[in-house]
Amino acid sequence: MQVQIFQNKEALHRAVAERIIAEVKQNPQSVLGLSTGSSPIDTYANLVRDHQTQGTDYSRVRTFNLDEYVGLAGSHPQSYRYFMNEHLFHHLNIPMENTYVPSGIGDLEKECEAYENEIKRQGGIDLQLLGIGTNGHIGFNEPGTPLDSRTHVTRLLQETITANARFFSTVEEVPTEAVTMGIQTIMEARQIVLLAYGSKKAATIRDAVRRPVTENVPASVLQHHPDVALYLDEEAAALL
Ligand code: F6R
Repeated sequence: MQVQIFQNKEALHRAVAERIIAEVKQNPQSVLGLSTGSSPIDTYANLVRDHQTQGTDYSRVRTFNLDEYVGLAGSHPQSYRYFMNEHLFHHLNIPMENTYVPSGIGDLEKECEAYENEIKRQGGIDLQLLGIGTNGHIGFNEPGTPLDSRTHVTRLLQETITANARFFSTVEEVPTEAVTMGIQTIMEARQIVLLAYGSKKAATIRDAVRRPVTENVPASVLQHHPDVALYLDEEAAALL
């Protein structure tokens, strides 16, 4: 695992965005794995600014998001599809049909299988962007998820529901289930970039990086991946 520590969040987001931009420039048909939550918002703002000022071309890029809430249609303001449209896709020249977000409605078993097949059909993920939950989850793979899991429906733990309540009016509105790429799906990405900042993430970053690999800290499995870079601020890296 390669660990890069930045003095502040601004420098961290710039560096993550530069890494993604370099990937897209080097391979204009890149397949990007993307995440939501608060962590990547300013990274996406950097990508949008670069596209507007430098013209980085996304017309042939394909993207696959990690996860989506069960029960929320893409038009729901709290859905991850909506989030991605608002923060990124609507501001780049990426064709919408090149952007894949798991569906949280319909026949979910079929949707999960179709999602895995589509990732394969597009040649696999070149670069996967990850955040990390305070309990060590990646995607919505909560502690205890088998390390060989693929895209599946998962029940969110109370800790995750409480953490994500900040995006909803009340905690009762937070969906209790999600569709998520599995841990094995994530591990098959050719490169992985995980970004984390703030003191709340310090203990889980320590557990993921310095402690033995365990299903109880899903992010720890990244120790087994040949090309992982952690982009951290000083607070998130404080216990390393
Ligand atoms: C989101 C996702 C989650 C988040 C994690 C951290 O697509 O897959 O694993 O990355 O919950 O969320 P934030 O960034 O809000 O702290």
